[in-house]
Amino acid sequence: MAEVIDGKSIAEDVVDKVKALTAELSAKGATRPGLAVVIVGEDPASQVYVASKSRTAKECGFLSLQHTLPAETTEGDLLKIIGDLNADPSIHGILVQLPLPGHIDSGKVIQAIAPEKDVDGFHFINVGKLGTGELETAFVPCTPAGSMLLIERVRGKDLSGLNAVVVGRSNIVGKPMANLLLAANCTVTIAHSRTRDLPALARTADILVAAVGRPEMVKGDWVKPGATVIDVGINRIPAPEKGEGKSRLVGDVAYGEAARVAGAITPVPGGVGPMTIAMLMANTVASAYLAAGLKRPSF
Ligand code: GUN
Repeated sequence: MAEVIDGKSIAEDVVDKVKALTAELSAKGATRPGLAVVIVGEDPASQVYVASKSRTAKECGFLSLQHTLPAETTEGDLLKIIGDLNADPSIHGILVQLPLPGHIDSGKVIQAIAPEKDVDGFHFINVGKLGTGELETAFVPCTPAGSMLLIERVRGKDLSGLNAVVVGRSNIVGKPMANLLLAANCTVTIAHSRTRDLPALARTADILVAAVGRPEMVKGDWVKPGATVIDVGINRIPAPEKGEGKSRLVGDVAYGEAARVAGAITPVPGGVGPMTIAMLMANTVASAYLAAGLKRPSF
C-alpha cells in the first residue's frame, strides 16, 4: 500500500514557519505582513474559501483585510480598490478571488495587481519568471507550489531524470505545475482532453499529477508501481449510501485502486487542499520580507 501524504500536517508545518517568520519580522522592527483579500458577489464556495484565507492570515499574525463587494460592483470600482491596495505600504499581498462576475474582465483585474504584491502568482511578470526559471524572485501560484512541497517531502528537492506527467493544462495549476517540475529537472509531459492514450502515458510517470476536475478519472491501472501520485481535484459527488441527498468529496484519482499501486499518494480531502492556503501565507510573508529589504525566506 502507498504512503499516504499528510497534506494537513505538512500545511501546519508551513503555517508554523510563517508564524515564526512573522514574529522575527516584528522583532526586527519591520512592518508585519498584510494580506488583502477581495471578493465580488455571493458565490457560497468562494465565500468559504475567502473566510478561511482571512482567518489563517490572522492566525499567522498578519494584518488581514477583506473587501466584500456586491455582485454589481463595476470593473472601474474594482480597479480603483486594487490601485489603492497597490499604493498601501501596509499591504504585501493582494488576492482577488476568482471567478469574478461576468461583466468584469478577470484578466484586466489580475494584470492591475502590482507584481510584487501578486501572491496568487497570476500576473504575467510572475508567470514569465516561473517560465524562465527565475524562481528566486517569482511568486508561484499556491496550489502547484504546495503540490511541489508535497512531492519534495517524498522524493527530495532534486527530481533529476524522473518522468512527470501533469494531467490538466490550466493556467492556475497544470501549466505552473509543469514549469516547477521542469525547474526541478524532471522530464515533463502535459496531458489534456485531446491527449491520445492517456492511460499508457500516465503509466510512464514516476510523478503523476491529476488536475482536471473530473471525479476519479485516473484509475489504478494508469499508475506506475511505486509512483508518487498528487491529486489536485476536489469534486463533490452524490453519496446515496450516506443517506438521501448526501454527498462526499473525491479527487481526480480513484483513490482506493491507485493507493494499491502507487508508492505515495495524496488523499482528498487532506492532501493538496490544505497546502493551498498555507502557501498563500508563505507567499505573503515572503513579500513582506522583500518589502523590508530582507532576504526572502524559503519553504
Ligand atoms: N479561485 C479558486 N482558486 C483560486 C486561487 O487560487 N486564487 C484565486 N484568487 N481565486 C481562486
